[in-house]
Amino acid sequence: MCGIVAYIGKKQAYPIIVNGLRRLEYRGYDSAGVALLNDTNHLSVYKIKGKVADLERFSNGKDISGTIGIGHTRWATHGEPNDVNAHPHFSENENIALIHNGIIENYERIKHSLEKKGYHFRSETDTEVLVHLIDDIQKNADVSFAESVRLALEQVIGAYAIVVISKDNPNRLIAARKSSPLVVGVGEGGEFFMASDASPIVEHTKNVVYLNDEEIAILDRYEGLKVYNIRSSEEKIPYIQELELQLEAIEKGGYEHFMLKEIHEQPRSIRDCFRGRLSKSEGYVALGGIKDYENKLITAPRIIMVACGTSWHACLVGEYLIEDLARINVEVEYASEFRYRNPIINENDIVIAVSQSGETADTLAAIKIAKQKGATILGICNVVGSSISRETDAGSYTHAGPEIGVASTKAFTAQVTVLTLLALRLAYKKGTISESYFYTLIAEMESIPEKVQTILDRTDALIKDIADTYHNATNVLYLGRGNSFPVALEGALKLKEISYIHAEGYPAAEMKHGPIALIDEEMPVVVIATQGPSYEKVVSNIQEVKARKGKVIAIVTEADTQVKAIADQVIEIPLVDDHFVPLLATIPLQLLSYYIAVLRGCNVDQPRNLAKSVTVE
Ligand code: G6P
Repeated sequence: MCGIVAYIGKKQAYPIIVNGLRRLEYRGYDSAGVALLNDTNHLSVYKIKGKVADLERFSNGKDISGTIGIGHTRWATHGEPNDVNAHPHFSENENIALIHNGIIENYERIKHSLEKKGYHFRSETDTEVLVHLIDDIQKNADVSFAESVRLALEQVIGAYAIVVISKDNPNRLIAARKSSPLVVGVGEGGEFFMASDASPIVEHTKNVVYLNDEEIAILDRYEGLKVYNIRSSEEKIPYIQELELQLEAIEKGGYEHFMLKEIHEQPRSIRDCFRGRLSKSEGYVALGGIKDYENKLITAPRIIMVACGTSWHACLVGEYLIEDLARINVEVEYASEFRYRNPIINENDIVIAVSQSGETADTLAAIKIAKQKGATILGICNVVGSSISRETDAGSYTHAGPEIGVASTKAFTAQVTVLTLLALRLAYKKGTISESYFYTLIAEMESIPEKVQTILDRTDALIKDIADTYHNATNVLYLGRGNSFPVALEGALKLKEISYIHAEGYPAAEMKHGPIALIDEEMPVVVIATQGPSYEKVVSNIQEVKARKGKVIAIVTEADTQVKAIADQVIEIPLVDDHFVPLLATIPLQLLSYYIAVLRGCNVDQPRNLAKSVTVE
């Protein structure tokens, strides 16, 4: 969380930085700020509570010239969102300015020692210690600007991606990272871009360097890019990669919100996810990235999946699929709980980390613990080159393309797609399902994008009407059984996240152990009641809700009659094998949350207090 952007080159930095910050607003939008060094060597900082648009209004009419600058969009951790706590932070003499994404854990101790030396702190942030520390080192040690940054970082415990600008060094920026992401874009003739991810860079250059953990970079107009290890000072040769990201992928493309665009992209993103990995005609499923680990997977005593948020829900679907189809013991863990629980892991266990961003701090920490204990670590990530994808032994990308809406949609269905492919592949290798059933399933899998498209085409108007009926609800219950239980959890999370309506997902049968007490004529209950092994049981649960006058919105299989007769509204999805229901049943729930949030006037793409990439613990 927090997005950082920087530029050095021949062009004006401000428009490049502000445009980049707009692309990174999904990482936080509590405040925004820039620092610019102009031709007369004046370093200006403009920063304000609110969004990038507020920063633009604030900077209007001010001197925003300069060919070198840094910018920041904040998700507040230490100190409330206000103008003073906004980044960049200045040194006391206003010679140095710094932006930071991450948390400096030992900031209190550093702050006290700097205060004893006479430094005054303006903000309540952890970040401000860094800029004073660098300034202090500059003043007291006869070292270069870059070396003072490196020495300061040696004293720091925590996570950071930083960029530092200094009046005394008008031709260079210093950047560094540990546990928070940072990408360098390499332009022509001494031009460099920097950002938390590649989206602000792609329109300028396709050549990028992903900085590794504990690396510091000097970006100099005349001397180019140099990278060193922070601890050892050893020089590293930067590895320049070509970006595959397309600009269109990070624009709204005519949709009112990114979330709606991303919901509608799912037929394509699911197909992209299984492209080259699944063939009905040739009868195979393969996940090239983890091919070498297949035997280990099928003999593993257990697979432990770690994730957070929506990705955790995808893991729950994966658990059902892998256990049912491949008969391998699976445990799903919240990464944040797993890491602090002294988990029992042995060398034959396989840990699969699932993450859209590939940067979630808790998931990264969970991987590190599992690694120390000798487990094999696989990753399922969407963002190519992300930290988790690089920390794991092997993995599969979800290929959903950039997801900008903070509430995850297409990344979730892509994660479920990869996990479904994995379950099918392992079941095939292990021989736990018959060949004919395997072929039936892969043929069905190939038809999923088409079926998702059918849902999008046929249910949109109906879901808008349902949203209209219930958008003033204060509580909503979501029920599902089997692999539809995680779908219920995900439906409830989506509604909470973007409409601020309290919603809870429950296993349908558990309703009678508590939530049933909440049901009255005001209470909408969304039930996933598709054809499958527990259909009849779910019908009984619906009866229980209706007996208490609750309002039932049911997701049913097309041509259903039984639920239709008792539910208040039904949304039909095409008939599929039960294993694929999560991929279809999720779609109407995404649309329902979306339309409810729009009707309530909420900021769908940037819900309050949330961030897409959670790089703090
Ligand atoms: C945040 C996002 C969620 C996401 C979760 C895990 O809370 O708002 O949409 O599911 O982080 O993120 P990851 O990138 O690891 O999937």
